[in-house]
Amino acid sequence: MNEQGSPEGAAESVRPPVMDRFAVEHAALAVFWAREDGSLVDANEASAGMLGLTREALRTLRVPDIDAGLAPGEWRVRWQRMKTRRYAKVETGLRHADGSTIPVELILNFAELEGAGYICAYARDLRPEKQKETDLKNTEELFRALMENTLDLVTILDGEGVIRYANPAMERLLGFTVCERLGAFAFDLVHPDDVPSVLADFAELARTRRFSTALGVRLWHKRGEWRYFDAAATNLLDNPAVRGIVVHSRDVTDRKLAEIALRQSESELRALAGRLIQGEEDEARLLSRELHDDFTQRLTAISLALGELERQRPPRVPEDWMARHQRLQAMVEAMSEDLRRLAHRLHPAVIDLLGLSAALKQLCAESPSAGGQLVHFNSRRGCDCPVDRGQALCLYRVAQEALRNAIKHSGAQEVWVELAGSAGQLRLTVRDNGSGFDGAPAAPRRGLGLISMKERVRLAGGSLHVESQPGQGTRLSAAVPVSLTGPGKAPRPRPDQGL
Ligand SMILES: Nc1ncnc2c1ncn2[C@@H]1O[C@H](COP(=O)(O)OP(=O)(O)O)[C@@H](O)[C@H]1O
Ligand SMILES: [Mg+2]
Repeated sequence: MNEQGSPEGAAESVRPPVMDRFAVEHAALAVFWAREDGSLVDANEASAGMLGLTREALRTLRVPDIDAGLAPGEWRVRWQRMKTRRYAKVETGLRHADGSTIPVELILNFAELEGAGYICAYARDLRPEKQKETDLKNTEELFRALMENTLDLVTILDGEGVIRYANPAMERLLGFTVCERLGAFAFDLVHPDDVPSVLADFAELARTRRFSTALGVRLWHKRGEWRYFDAAATNLLDNPAVRGIVVHSRDVTDRKLAEIALRQSESELRALAGRLIQGEEDEARLLSRELHDDFTQRLTAISLALGELERQRPPRVPEDWMARHQRLQAMVEAMSEDLRRLAHRLHPAVIDLLGLSAALKQLCAESPSAGGQLVHFNSRRGCDCPVDRGQALCLYRVAQEALRNAIKHSGAQEVWVELAGSAGQLRLTVRDNGSGFDGAPAAPRRGLGLISMKERVRLAGGSLHVESQPGQGTRLSAAVPVSLTGPGKAPRPRPDQGL
């Protein structure tokens, strides 16, 4: 080997020919020598290894035996051409012992040594390169197949938001051909109300972040309507192969429209439920007043008349007259008491007169516990301040229904009702040690009690939780926000509210 810059003759003079031989023998490149008749005079270790033969076996072959690219009779033409041109570079295939063909690049040199002509060929194995090309082609093919067959819209935007690439889903999802949108500003298709948030997100992504989270955005469809998309973007501006922001957008219009319709029907249902509950309350108040003002007054009149009758009793009356009179008197009193209670259940005026805590205490005391349950009431500090009538009535109705449920369904021995107040809210808890039930929201139910409790509390701006497990009792808690109506005094009932 020549030292760089040293004269060739000088280097050769110090390098024995055996060194050249050694270098060729052990070179990584395959080296072949061929004579004019096409026979291979020599081949190094690398060529033997490349073709899966021994060097001895190679020496028995001719160039046309191993060069698959050489047509019959073409050797002579190549020899003549090499003789004049001295140098050539060809791509061909060399036959391997296993029958396969190895793609190679041949560098051919013509040499005349000691009066005889030779072609010396260096063969470079092209398989790694070819493999790379195939891999690249396959990757491109895969990418194209993915992009063409995905249901979602994939776009690549530059740092300014201009569309540099769009997959064919563009036409299916937005009605525009890819050509129509290439080079256009991506945000032109965004709904004006969504533009500020989309632009802010894009700017931040382009500047600081790698990924954006899915963002709901409306895009204009060519046929004249807005479609809903969930879009997520990846910042690959620094990736030399992409140099863009990849945006993946999924059409969620059907889901969104269904959600909107559901929300609308939910709000209509809620409004209806609110009106029903209000109507029920109004009706109950009317009935209650009717019972109180009319029926109990009439019973009072009967009672007074009975008293008058007793006072004016004639001297001679049948023996059982007094007993019958007293029975009648007792019946009227009992009826009057029942009516009072009924009127009270229908509309607990005591809330207005004495406050929620007293009303609940009375409710617990009067609960008709057929099974002999003990109903405890406890009011904690902070709950005796006067609160808005609507909120108080809401908690009272919840307590009524929860107590009714505990008594009717749970088989509990004891029920605890507690009212507690804290900053800005009142919390009612009704707990029993009864059978419990599957409190999962999805569990099938027939009654309306739980639903109407929930709805009442929701309308009052609060929340209701039911914790129950079969065999573990039930705990229901309702919390509503309250605004105090005055310092420590029960609100005065309006004339139309009082009983
Ligand atoms: N405290 C409770 N203990 C046991 N089961 C209960 C309790 N509260 C409610 N449930 C169960 O939940 C169901 C639904 O209650 P609700 O909506 O009030 O309707 P209803 O009382 O008309 O049956 C009841 O039928 C009962 O099975
Ligand atoms: Mg019920």
